[in-house]
Amino acid sequence: MTRILMVCLGNICRSPLAHGIMQSKLPTEHFLVDSAGTAAYHVGNAPDRRSITVAKKHNIDISSQSARQFTVLDFDAFDYIYAMDQSNYANIINLSRNNDDIAKVKLFLDANENIQNKNMPDPYYGDQSDFEYVHQLINETCDILIKSFNHKT
Ligand code: 4NP
Repeated sequence: MTRILMVCLGNICRSPLAHGIMQSKLPTEHFLVDSAGTAAYHVGNAPDRRSITVAKKHNIDISSQSARQFTVLDFDAFDYIYAMDQSNYANIINLSRNNDDIAKVKLFLDANENIQNKNMPDPYYGDQSDFEYVHQLINETCDILIKSFNHKT
């Protein structure tokens, strides 16, 4: 079982989309996908309505997800931890206990050579078109990552 965790700040906009999109592309027998936020502001909340809408448009239902905060135990529970931006990355690394923890943490967009800016834009203060763009970027990057998983198995 390969265990993948998507992490953003609030766990209501970007990482729920990354969670739902990645999960939809992988067989559940071999891959566990989850998401979390580095902050606790939205713990227990459903994803942002605009993330639910863009996912639904692409036939993915993320409405039953519930936001939770990243904890140090996630370093044990997951093999790959993908941070949506450098600030999330730094917050996760701050909680790491050792080099094994650090080695699990990647900047999600580092996998995507087509994109220069490695920070997934935060769409929270934007509009639906910002969520569309985030969806597209996540979708494209998940496909690239899945190819790299397949090369390893
Ligand atoms: P996310 O977006 O990190 O992609 O879930 C945000 C959600 C909430 C806030 C900021 C970003 N906030 O400031 O409450």
